Amino acid sequence: MFAEVPLYPTAASTFAEEVDSHFQFLLGVWVFFTVLIAMLIIYFSARYRRGVHAPRGTGIHHPLALELAWTLIPLGLVLFIFVWGARIYVTWAEPSDDAHQVYVVGRQWMWHLQHASGQREINQLHVPAGRPVKLTLISQDVIHSFFCPEFRLHMDVLPNRYTNAWFQATRPGRYHLFCSQYCGTYHSQMVGEVIVMEPDAFQRWLGQGADNSAAAAGGKLFQKLQCVSCHGAEARRAPLLENLYRTTVPLEGGGSVIADKAYLRESILYPDAKVVAGYKSIMPSF
Ligand code: CUA
Repeated sequence: MFAEVPLYPTAASTFAEEVDSHFQFLLGVWVFFTVLIAMLIIYFSARYRRGVHAPRGTGIHHPLALELAWTLIPLGLVLFIFVWGARIYVTWAEPSDDAHQVYVVGRQWMWHLQHASGQREINQLHVPAGRPVKLTLISQDVIHSFFCPEFRLHMDVLPNRYTNAWFQATRPGRYHLFCSQYCGTYHSQMVGEVIVMEPDAFQRWLGQGADNSAAAAGGKLFQKLQCVSCHGAEARRAPLLENLYRTTVPLEGGGSVIADKAYLRESILYPDAKVVAGYKSIMPSF
C-alpha cells in the first residue's frame, strides 16, 4: 500500500538532490534531538519521581566544559545549516546568462506562459532538458505562487513586481505545476504541467511559431502608435531607439548612462529626467 505513496516527489532538476539532502539533514537533526529530549524527560521523570530515594540537590558549580559543549556544539550545527542553506540559495538565485527565457503571467485562475521567441502557452510549459530555464513572473491580479515540486521550485508571483526563478530539468517527462498560494474560488484548479523535452525535439517545437516574439510585438506597436515618426531611422527630431538597450547614451549637460531597464522605464514615465545629448525635451509624459 505504501509503495504508491512516495515520501518525496521525483527529483527532476539539478537542485533537487541538494535540496533533499539539506532537508533530510534538518530532519535528522530534528529527530535526533526530539528523541533525545523525550527519552531524558521520561528517564528523569521515573528516576526522580516522588517517594524515590535518589540523590537530589547536590549543587553542581560552574561545569565549564559542559557549558562550552552545549554552547559550541549547537552553534557549530546551526552555522553549518546556515552556510549550506545559503549556498543553495545563492545558486538558486542566480540564473546563468544563456538560460532559456520564459515570461510567466499568473491570473485568476490560469497560467499564461510565453517564451522569449514568442511561443505562447496556457497551463503548459515546454522546456528543454539539460539547459537552464529562467522565469520572469508577474501576476495580473492577486498573489499566486509558481510551484513545481519535482524541480523543488517555488516562487511567489506578485502583482506590480517582477520576480525571477530558474531551474534546469535533468530528464524528459511531464511534471506538475501548481499554484500554491490561496488565490480565490478556483485556486485548486490553477494547475498545469511542465513538459521537459529532449533539446532537439524542443527546438523543433519552438520553431513552430516564432514571429510573435515580444520584440516583434513591440515593433508593431512602435509602428502603429507612430513612435516611428520621431524615433525612426529617417526622422531626426528625437533619438533613434532601435537597438538602444544596453548601449551607452550621452546626456545633455554632460555625463552618460547605460540604457538598462531602469533607464528605459524612467524615460517612458518621466521623459525629462534624462535628456539625450543634442535633443530638446519635447517628449510628452505618459
Ligand atoms: Cu493562483 Cu492559487
